[in-house]
Amino acid sequence: MKRISIFFCLLALLACRQNLQTASPDGSIVFDVCLDTAGVPQYTVSMDGKSVLGPSPVGLEAEGLDIYGGYKVRKVTRRRVDEAWEQPWGENKEMRDCHRETAVFLENPSGVRMTLRVRVFDDGAGFRCEYDAPADTLRILRENTGFRFAEDGTSWSIESNFDTYECPFRKLPISGTPDANTPFTFLAGDVYGSIHEAALYDFPEMNLERVEGTEFRSRLAPLPGTEAKAVVPGAFKTPWRTVQLGRRAVDLINSSLILNLNEPSKIEDTSWIKPQKYIGVWWGMHLGTQSWTMGPRHGATTENALRHIDFAAANNIQGVLFEGWNYGWDTWGGEEHFDYTRPYADFDLPRIKAHADSLGVALWLHNETGGNVPEYEAAIDTAFALYEKWGIHTVKTGYAGGMPNGYAHHSQYGVRHYQKVVEAAAAHRIAIDAHEPIKETGIRRTWPNMMTREGARGMEWNAWSAGNSPEHLCTLPFTRLLGGPMDYTPGVFDIYYEAARRNPDRKPWNGDYSRTCIKTTLARQIANWVILYSPLQMACDLIENYEGHPAFQFFRDFDADCDFSKALDGGIGEYIAVVRRAGNRYFLGAGTDSSARALDIPLDFLEPGKEYDATVYADDLSAGPTDAAPTPEDGARDRRAYRIETRTVTSGDTLHVEMAPGGGQAVSFIPR
Ligand code: NOJ
Ligand code: CA
Repeated sequence: MKRISIFFCLLALLACRQNLQTASPDGSIVFDVCLDTAGVPQYTVSMDGKSVLGPSPVGLEAEGLDIYGGYKVRKVTRRRVDEAWEQPWGENKEMRDCHRETAVFLENPSGVRMTLRVRVFDDGAGFRCEYDAPADTLRILRENTGFRFAEDGTSWSIESNFDTYECPFRKLPISGTPDANTPFTFLAGDVYGSIHEAALYDFPEMNLERVEGTEFRSRLAPLPGTEAKAVVPGAFKTPWRTVQLGRRAVDLINSSLILNLNEPSKIEDTSWIKPQKYIGVWWGMHLGTQSWTMGPRHGATTENALRHIDFAAANNIQGVLFEGWNYGWDTWGGEEHFDYTRPYADFDLPRIKAHADSLGVALWLHNETGGNVPEYEAAIDTAFALYEKWGIHTVKTGYAGGMPNGYAHHSQYGVRHYQKVVEAAAAHRIAIDAHEPIKETGIRRTWPNMMTREGARGMEWNAWSAGNSPEHLCTLPFTRLLGGPMDYTPGVFDIYYEAARRNPDRKPWNGDYSRTCIKTTLARQIANWVILYSPLQMACDLIENYEGHPAFQFFRDFDADCDFSKALDGGIGEYIAVVRRAGNRYFLGAGTDSSARALDIPLDFLEPGKEYDATVYADDLSAGPTDAAPTPEDGARDRRAYRIETRTVTSGDTLHVEMAPGGGQAVSFIPR
């Protein structure tokens, strides 16, 4: 393999007549561009003097016009950028965009001009093709951009799938990964990295397919009934292809590369876009104790809504989500089924809204589309205008079902649709939480009302499937969450679903529920509120499971509107420790896989010279077996067992964190 790479390197170098190299500001990452003998651009990436990606082609093929090869360099421009910018919300509000840019202007005999724009940061690189072809439209047949790993290593990813991201993660040798969706995270030699994309608009999403050895190529989501993957104007830009790089696994989490490659906000007044903690009429439906449809188990009733609003107001929670509030759930699957404007008869929206207003609680409405995009697109302008009139500023969308006419969720058709919803929502001052979404590629910088999304196996899978393992939870921050926030909906306290099991009216709707439960400890459920970043952060359990529970104090104190974040320590799929600051409070979350683990965490992130009241929510390591669990394996150690401790700490202290198998720890630091 090494010999082949060296051969290609030499070949590429021979074809190179100009210095088209870009080094990161600190010089550690070098991105090199060459034209091969066929005039196809090739790139290489190295870090700390070692090759990470060997010569790999860049570019697209179109029907009837050569836009891929035959290029010659017309000119080259270079730029150094070092700018500070702020975002209205995010893991970090103060951002720095420090990179070196090289734009290689190319032209081929077909009269196609293409600029290969490269930006190299200290945490990775991004590159995109900007085409200007002599054609009104181009039918894009494929993308040939390659990712040729210089050496084999390990990868973490989900399978290539253009309809869902709700797949289990695989840890595989790079050379043994047949295909993957992105973020595609890897360890090659001693370099951690992740391949993804930034600023995905009006173009199909990119997956990776292995060509041979450690060489991958872009695979674009298809359109039905045609060879073409996308239809674009003659002048268009691809999304950025990104390679985040770091020496430690947590460097990937601390990287701002994806956001830095997106454009500044197009929404001028962002004051109405507010991070929130929220609860919802939601988990009961998944557990089967409530229903989305009207009837004896209906969740979204006036009475239940008022109860949730009271609970939110009493517990420092800003929002309440309602699913099953509108007509259409009974006829899901039929034509024009969901009515996005008509509340069910037992959901008295004016009364509920008046009560919420009187207590300063925000109402969220859910729009399940079942994948029926044409119906939803026809409805959103009217529905969003009405929501604005009603004073509703957050909508959760859902696409649980195939899109019509064979369109894949992640195709150009899907990408256009998701963006249409974001822009229509922005026009009515509505923030979006999208389930079954398109992947996050950092567009939240440009459209900060696109606040959070699902896009991986979230909590719901614990209700009706074998559930999410502690390893899954330790993989998410290093993979899916590199793209951006996730609405995982953490925080189940009733670990073994005892309340649901006692409920005689329970009607499971999705399979055999007899063995389902949460696969982590209760302390880990708390830690997930910190670890799994979302500016809209849910406490998803039934509110009766929080009422009077001492450990719920963490969520009351927690603030979803954070200013600063840092991943402190972690191993992909193994463990993770993250700290976030909101105002002058700090919140720490740590979690482990199925092995018990201890970490020593220096508290040097705290403000020096200040004393903090630290409240520790930890696993009770003395826990024994329990009969409450649905299976003997799940009952081997009581995952409900926790302890709360308080102490005074300063930035000079080190916190000793001990976690049970599948466990975790959460700590709030409140200045004295
Ligand atoms: C799947 C979503 O992920 C979940 O949150 C929602 O409750 C169901 N679809 C029903 O719309
Ligand atoms: Ca889902």
